[in-house]
Amino acid sequence: MKYGLVTGGGDSPAINAAIRSIVENAYRKDDQIVGFKNGWAGLLENDVWLLTREDVSGILKEGGSILGSSRTDPFLEEKNTQKIKDIYEDIHRLKGLIAIGGDDTLGVAHRLHEEFNIGVVGVPQTIDNDVALTRCSIGFDTALNGVMEAADELHTTATTHHRVMILEVMGRNAGWLAAPGGISGGADIILVPEETFEISEIKRKIKQRRTRGKDFSIVVIAEGATPEDFNQQVGQEGAESDDEFQHAKYGGIGNALGNRLKEELELTVRVTQLGYLQRGGTPTARDRLLATHYGAEAVELCSNRQFDKMVATSSNQFMEIQAVDLEEVIDKSPRKLHSPLLKLKDLFL
Ligand code: F6P
Repeated sequence: MKYGLVTGGGDSPAINAAIRSIVENAYRKDDQIVGFKNGWAGLLENDVWLLTREDVSGILKEGGSILGSSRTDPFLEEKNTQKIKDIYEDIHRLKGLIAIGGDDTLGVAHRLHEEFNIGVVGVPQTIDNDVALTRCSIGFDTALNGVMEAADELHTTATTHHRVMILEVMGRNAGWLAAPGGISGGADIILVPEETFEISEIKRKIKQRRTRGKDFSIVVIAEGATPEDFNQQVGQEGAESDDEFQHAKYGGIGNALGNRLKEELELTVRVTQLGYLQRGGTPTARDRLLATHYGAEAVELCSNRQFDKMVATSSNQFMEIQAVDLEEVIDKSPRKLHSPLLKLKDLFL
């Protein structure tokens, strides 16, 4: 059998670990994997790579995707989708298609199944960790560790110069990176998109810390967090969106908050935007293990013709992998931060 493979949306560590596992498991079954390059663009242009075991040798620890990625939405133009069907069925005679990515990529996969009966299997991958019906997406653990380390390191300048240090992190409309990253990095104030915040409250907390003799503060803020008196999220003004899924471009709330605090506090404020560093680097052991497990299981689902499913885990140890319905995943995504973390993030001050 031949199965297609596509990696779409924002990259992350451990995509390659999943690709390696998919190719190896397919090899065991005498199956072949046709990789499409650069997300759904590769499927439109028939830009393919027949992946061999040699191609995936040594890629376990490499970040990004050897197949490349893009934010191409094939449903933007009607003629595209027929092209995909022709390439899938007539040119390559594929019997299944594995899609690795976040809710946009998985959403396209589900539509391909619904509208063209293409046998899709989804693999959740995004540093935002906001795909529904799974506890962990590929890439999240590595990015989370990056946030923790950045918060740790900002403590040096914060304590030495008695400053307020703001760390802006990614995550779109969910606080999965900001909250657990901030908690594990010892942040004093953590701001997430799930709750609006008041500037006056931040000032009060910083002042309260000063009365306790803490003349520095670490603030971790998610890119999608919104102060109550701003009427919208802060984005990169004037930045043209090259994202065919029409997402707003985030980035800038850290500076906006920093400017407000500078105006109103006597402390020096400095801002760090962690940005794309969160998407790079060497995957952690947890991410490699998760990706390996997900990849192997995705091939099993193809073999068993269990389509329109996504591999998922309900355990933090992710030894138990399940297949969940892609339709329900799309309906319920993005997954918001759950209440235990919302509560825990406000414990320390
Ligand atoms: O979805 C992953 C993510 O890194 C978000 O956290 C961030 O807002 C977005 O992608 C950035 O997208 P782009 O790669 O298009 O700049």
